[in-house]
Amino acid sequence: MAAAGIAAEEYHGASAGGTLLCRSAHLRAGCYACPAPASCGSLFKVDFLQLVERRRAVRQYRSTPVDRSVIERLINTAVLAPSAMNLQPWAFAVVTGIPRIDEYARRAKEYLIAEPRALELSVQARAMVNDPEFSMFYHAPVLLIVLAKVESPQAREDCCLAAQTLMLAARDAGLGTCWIGLGRPWLELPETKFELGIPDNYHAVAPIVIGHPTAWPESHGRQPAEIHWLTP
Ligand SMILES: Cc1cc2nc3c(=O)[nH]c(=O)nc-3n(C[C@H](O)[C@H](O)[C@H](O)COP(=O)(O)O)c2cc1C
Repeated sequence: MAAAGIAAEEYHGASAGGTLLCRSAHLRAGCYACPAPASCGSLFKVDFLQLVERRRAVRQYRSTPVDRSVIERLINTAVLAPSAMNLQPWAFAVVTGIPRIDEYARRAKEYLIAEPRALELSVQARAMVNDPEFSMFYHAPVLLIVLAKVESPQAREDCCLAAQTLMLAARDAGLGTCWIGLGRPWLELPETKFELGIPDNYHAVAPIVIGHPTAWPESHGRQPAEIHWLTP
């Protein structure tokens, strides 16, 4: 249980029956709702780092459905994200059921192939889309779309924050996610919005598939951050 080079023991007390206890003896799993969160600050920190480090874009899912109550919990966490002027310009569309999502994947892919200018794709991405085996939504049991419901100048940024918060909440719940930017051109079509019941003036910002992963993929790693210290 080490995170970012920090031994878990620095944050946690002894393990009791396989369950880590934090210093103030609150159960690790309960610390998000800890009645004394101030005394659990360091514990929260290590859990948060683990969560961020262990989130992955998941592209292989089990067929097990995700409970509606779980999806609602993820959305209720997503809306805790900050937004400019606290406008909270987001809405969420949720599609469930693998056959329906597979069908949308097929149509979204067909659209991208027919309209290559809908999204500027790298050669690599185009090859992936043209692969007959490629299913854009990876046979996930849930497709959730974070929608910007107003044209406020920073609505899309706000929606991206909600999307990332949702993906971390999903990881915390043991669920995999993958943001599917490729799906956006098709989801943005007026006829698609009409069919899905999305108001015409809403914009699909973040299509995200959600489900139980067959396995957690390895990290793709990150380049060292480019940092410009602008202070003397
Ligand atoms: C804006 C955005 C669009 C993305 N679009 C796709 C996509 O269309 N298909 C896909 O498989 N992954 C997509 N991804 C997932 C990225 O490929 C993935 O996050 C990246 O490779 C890093 O891997 P990791 O998330 O496991 O750390 C997208 C991610 C973001 C943030």
